[in-house]
Amino acid sequence: MKVTAIMNLKGGTAKTVTAINMAAILYRMHSQRVLLVDADSQCNLTEFMTAELPKERQLTDGGLYDLLTGKQAVIRETSVPCVDILPATDDLMALDVNKAGGNGADVMAVAELRSREDERYDHMVIDCPPAFSAAAVAALIAADQVIIPMKLDAFGIRGMANLLCQVKNMQRVNPALTVAGILPTMYYKSAKMEEAEETLRASGLRVYPHIRRSVMVDEMTFLQTPLIFSSPKSGACRDYKTFVTEFMKGGEHDGV
Ligand SMILES: Nc1ncnc2c1ncn2[C@@H]1O[C@H](COP(=O)(O)OP(=O)(O)OP(=O)(O)O)[C@@H](O)[C@H]1O
Ligand SMILES: [Mg+2]
Repeated sequence: MKVTAIMNLKGGTAKTVTAINMAAILYRMHSQRVLLVDADSQCNLTEFMTAELPKERQLTDGGLYDLLTGKQAVIRETSVPCVDILPATDDLMALDVNKAGGNGADVMAVAELRSREDERYDHMVIDCPPAFSAAAVAALIAADQVIIPMKLDAFGIRGMANLLCQVKNMQRVNPALTVAGILPTMYYKSAKMEEAEETLRASGLRVYPHIRRSVMVDEMTFLQTPLIFSSPKSGACRDYKTFVTEFMKGGEHDGV
């Protein structure tokens, strides 16, 4: 199993949209079995991926919070075949890493889950919160690599230095952790965007082919169906397919 943390400390950069579409495309186009982990107390991923299930099969507890606090975690099915989820619940908010000892969160628990579920899934994709929470730390300890969805504006680019610094710190605990690359999201054609892409490439980090801005993505959040099923011909869906193909190829991890 390959473990990928989708992370950016900045909010609203399409982390959750990326996790959703990656998982659905990994299943639909590449026949992969995926375990999603929702590490964000906003629960966007969990709500999206389980909205279509009958009420009695939707979750209320047993998610990542329970795993991090030494209780039994329950992996749930989602509305996409071969894609399961370790859900988030809003009590994850209580596990703020800045509080002394991360409120006792067991930050090794996701890495242990990885070992237990290694045979059952090809990929674990972790949707991280826009914060360095205990759940985010647990994700980085379990992960092989980080993908950074980024809106190419000055705020996003400045914020990246902080994230790279946090990843570097985490490499002391998890030396195998690498930054697989930056995924420019909500892209539209402009001189500044092209310049920003070039600057990132010149910094030595891998920059994946961008995901264009599209109204179909906002629409998808209402339909609660990944792009590959709700609007497979949209530009954003084609971009996500290209990204996942690149992701599957792997290639050099430039590291930080
Ligand atoms: N390619 C795109 N085109 C247009 N809108 C997009 C695109 N990608 C994401 N969005 C929109 O941007 C918003 C933020 O997306 P998303 O919730 O995935 O970000 P996030 O990084 O997970 O946010 P948070 O930090 O709060 O967890 C959503 O309204 C989503 O519909
Ligand atoms: Mg999110």
